[in-house]
Amino acid sequence: MYTQDIRPAFEEVIGKDGADKARFKDALDAAAKAIATLETHKKNGALPVLTIPEREDDLASIEEAVKRIAAFKTFVVIGMGGSSYGGKALTSLVHNPLAQSSALEIHFIDNIDPLTSDRLLLSLDLKTTIFALISKSGDTAETLAHALILIQEVKSRLGADAVRNHFIAITEPKDSALRRLAKTHNMTVLDHDPSIGGRFSVLSNVGLLPAKAAGLDIRAIRRGAANVVRHTFETPDPEPAKGAALQLALMERGRSLAVLMPYCDRLDMFNTWYRQLWAESLGKGGKGSTPMRSLGACDQHSQLQLYLDGPRDKFISLILLENTCKGATLPEITDPTLSYLSGRTLGDLMDAEQRATVETLTRNRCPLRIFGLKVLDEETIGALMMHFMLETMIMGELLGVNTFDQPAVEEGKKLAREYLARK
Ligand code: PA5
Repeated sequence: MYTQDIRPAFEEVIGKDGADKARFKDALDAAAKAIATLETHKKNGALPVLTIPEREDDLASIEEAVKRIAAFKTFVVIGMGGSSYGGKALTSLVHNPLAQSSALEIHFIDNIDPLTSDRLLLSLDLKTTIFALISKSGDTAETLAHALILIQEVKSRLGADAVRNHFIAITEPKDSALRRLAKTHNMTVLDHDPSIGGRFSVLSNVGLLPAKAAGLDIRAIRRGAANVVRHTFETPDPEPAKGAALQLALMERGRSLAVLMPYCDRLDMFNTWYRQLWAESLGKGGKGSTPMRSLGACDQHSQLQLYLDGPRDKFISLILLENTCKGATLPEITDPTLSYLSGRTLGDLMDAEQRATVETLTRNRCPLRIFGLKVLDEETIGALMMHFMLETMIMGELLGVNTFDQPAVEEGKKLAREYLARK
C-alpha cells in the first residue's frame, strides 16, 4: 500500500547532518517498548482507535444516514479541528478514478471568519441542503455558533418543522449544548465514541460519514488502516516505529521542524490533518517538533530554497506517487528553451520534478524520508492515516507526553468565553 524509505536521512548517505545509526537503533528499541504499551492499552479496550479499523457493526448507521443525505443536493459539515480535518482529507480523494463519483456537493465550515460564512450561506439553497453538526464535546463555541445561525436560517426560511430533516448531529452520548439542541429539534444523532479523541476520530463516523457521502468505499479505508495496525503489532521494527525513532534521533540533532511534502493535490488536506495530529498530540512540556505543511511541486517555487539552504533544522518527508496520473500531453514545441517538454505529459513533468527534489535535497545533505504510493485509493489513505496516528502515539511514548490531551489550549477558550460574557 505504501513504502517508507528512511535511508536518505542517515549519516552514511548525507554525512554529519544525518541521523546517527546507533542513536536510531536505541530509539527503535524504545519504540518496541512503546508498541508493547500501546498493545496492552489496545487489549484493555483503552485505545479503540486501534480496534475500530476491524469493526463493521457501526457502519450501518453511517450508511443509513448517508441515504438520507443523498436525497439532498448539498451537504455541509460543520466542525472544528479533529471534527473536520479527517472528513476534509478523505473527501479530497473523490477525484480518484477508483472512487465512485458523487453528485452531492460537499462543503466544510470550520472557521468563524464572518465573510466566509456569509458567502457560503448566501450561496446555499437551503431547501436542498443538509447539515452535519460534528462536535465530540458538544460545547465548542465555533461549531455551536454556526449551528445556531444555521438552525435560525432554516427555521425562518423553511419553517420550524424543517430543522429536523435538514440537520444530523454527531456528538458524545452525554449532556451538552449540542445534545440539547439536537433533542429540542428532534434531530438524528450519531454517537461520537467518547474514548476516541477528536484528532484520532477520522476512522469513526466523524470522518467516514463525509467520506461515504462523497462516494468513497469506507470499508476499504478501514481495511487499509487495519493492515497497518496488524503490521505494527505483528512485525519487528514496523514502519511507524521506524518513523518515530528516526525523528527522535534527528530532533536530538536539532531537527525540530518536520516538513511533510506530498507531490499530489489530493493529499494537501491530508497534510492539514497530519499537522494537527502531530502538533496537538506532541507539543507539550517544552517537547515536540513543529510540523510544516508543504506541497510539491508548488513549494519548489516557495519553500524549497529554505529547505535546501536555510537553517539546518528540518527533517523532510516526501510522499511520491509512483504512477502519477499522466494528464494532458503537450504539443510538439519548436521553441528551443521549452523543447524538453515536447510531447511530454503533465504527469511526466511532475514525475521529473519529484525525482529532482529527492536528488537535490540529498545532495544538499537534508535528512529525508520518502513515502512511495503505487496508487492513491481508499485503502492507501486508510493505511497512511493509521501509519501517522501510530507514529504519533509511539512518539508520544518516546517523549513521555500524553498524546491524547491538549491542556494548554483550554486557557484561550476560557478567556474568549469570559470576554463575550462581559459585553
Ligand atoms: O483533537 C481535538 O481534540 C481537537 O482538535 C478537537 O477536535 C476540536 O477542538 C473540536 O472539538 P469538538 O469535537 O469537541 O468540538
